[in-house]
Amino acid sequence: MGNNMNGGRLERTGGNQDSGKQKSVALQMSPEDMLDLAKKAAEILVKRMENLPEDLAWDGDFQQPLEVKLKEEPPEEGRPADEVIDQATRDILPNAARLDHPRSFAFIPSSPTWPGILADFMAAGYNFNTCNWLCASGPSEVELVVIDWIRRWIGYPDDAGGLLTSGGSAAILDAFVAAREAAGNPERGTVYMSNQSHKAQVRAARIIGIRAEYIRLIPTDQHFRLDMDALVRAVAEDRAAGLEPIIICANAGAPSTGAIDPLEAVADFCQAEGLWMHADAAYGGFAVVSEKGKALLRGIERADSINLDAHKWFFQPYEAGCLLLKDVGKLEHVFQVHQDVLQDTIWGANHPSFSDRGLQLSRSARALKIWMSVQTFGMAAFRDAVSNGMELAARAEAYIDQSSVLESLNPASLGIVCFRVNPANEGSDSSLDEDYLAKLNQQMLARVFWEDRALMSSTTLSETFSLRLCIINHNTTWVDVRETLEAIERFGTEALEEGWE
Ligand SMILES: Cc1ncc(COP(=O)(O)O)c(C=O)c1O
Repeated sequence: MGNNMNGGRLERTGGNQDSGKQKSVALQMSPEDMLDLAKKAAEILVKRMENLPEDLAWDGDFQQPLEVKLKEEPPEEGRPADEVIDQATRDILPNAARLDHPRSFAFIPSSPTWPGILADFMAAGYNFNTCNWLCASGPSEVELVVIDWIRRWIGYPDDAGGLLTSGGSAAILDAFVAAREAAGNPERGTVYMSNQSHKAQVRAARIIGIRAEYIRLIPTDQHFRLDMDALVRAVAEDRAAGLEPIIICANAGAPSTGAIDPLEAVADFCQAEGLWMHADAAYGGFAVVSEKGKALLRGIERADSINLDAHKWFFQPYEAGCLLLKDVGKLEHVFQVHQDVLQDTIWGANHPSFSDRGLQLSRSARALKIWMSVQTFGMAAFRDAVSNGMELAARAEAYIDQSSVLESLNPASLGIVCFRVNPANEGSDSSLDEDYLAKLNQQMLARVFWEDRALMSSTTLSETFSLRLCIINHNTTWVDVRETLEAIERFGTEALEEGWE
């Protein structure tokens, strides 16, 4: 059987076609065609990576023009596969933020390593389903190994464990399900988090059945860290009102500012009150591989559960979330269910099944990418790459502090810097009106978007509009950060000189 580069075409083979009784449909290609296509795809990706620094950090298009190019009935007949790749490369793939661009500072960027990308390709090619040991013993063992690495970086006890998930949202949800069950599924349960927490926590709380009015957003201090006194008061008031507190969420890198909640104090409180502590370390968690990050996140190892995203600060392609529980049995207690159709216990039944630890039954082999990239580069390189983000963020803060146009709005935390254009902070009395400053900085954001190579985003800090850089790409250099800040200074100076309204 074979197929040339027309190879996407559907072929009917086998069976007695004449009799019409047996037909099989082949979606196959020759080995030569498969290699040619894989080479073509790899060349496109490598070229993209090579050209990325000179390219824009963002591209995109509106729905209507994209529909003109793409909206059609699925074709009845196929066409040459290389033509299909060409169209995808032309019409689809460029229309997206380049989150791995060295000047991509918006939201939480991601910069996957090539071995990680290849690992996803290979895992798809081998078609693993890591639901249980029988189906995927090698990939399951590698998941155990990777989970154990992360466990040790965090400083969790030997018997802690977990699983890899699609991302932070899924990991938080699995953790909350375990927490609710461990608390005996109270009817009037309450969940606490800071007003800076990622809304994935709110969503997970809603999904496990916490009523919206029982989700407490606790105030934060001047650096956007959970206010412990306010937390203690809220829990006491809720208990007095007959409610049943279940989970306290602590940020190990809040999304707006990178703020780290007082992890030791939260742990002490949870211990004293018999509450479940969850640490959302989706963004900041992998800082623990560096000495500085480990010190900043001290206390995280006392949480009952922790989520981290390897597709953020551990340089993996999407999707690579991770959930760790100090007592992994609490996860298995809720997620382990018997299925007759999966009862075959002829081999490997006494081994861990990752589908017993979370929502997914069919699961891809996400651990392979982490394992392959760590094996290829070594931990020293990962440590340097993580430290690079923190060092650049600190340097950006120092630059902002000495600028006559820029104003720091919060000390840099992990890899995040929050600031704005505000010349009044230079000591001039002509301080600008807050509404004016908000509009001015929105315009700065727009000018960077339209006129600069970088992609930046914003946030709101205590009702103040803030520009925000998240610097965690292993390819980002000081020149990338400095030139972006210089552009913002230039735009700010121009706007102020022109008396911008
Ligand atoms: C602190 C934090 N928590 C949770 C999430 C949600 O994670 P995911 O997008 O992987 O579902 C994010 C995403 O940016 C985050 O930054």
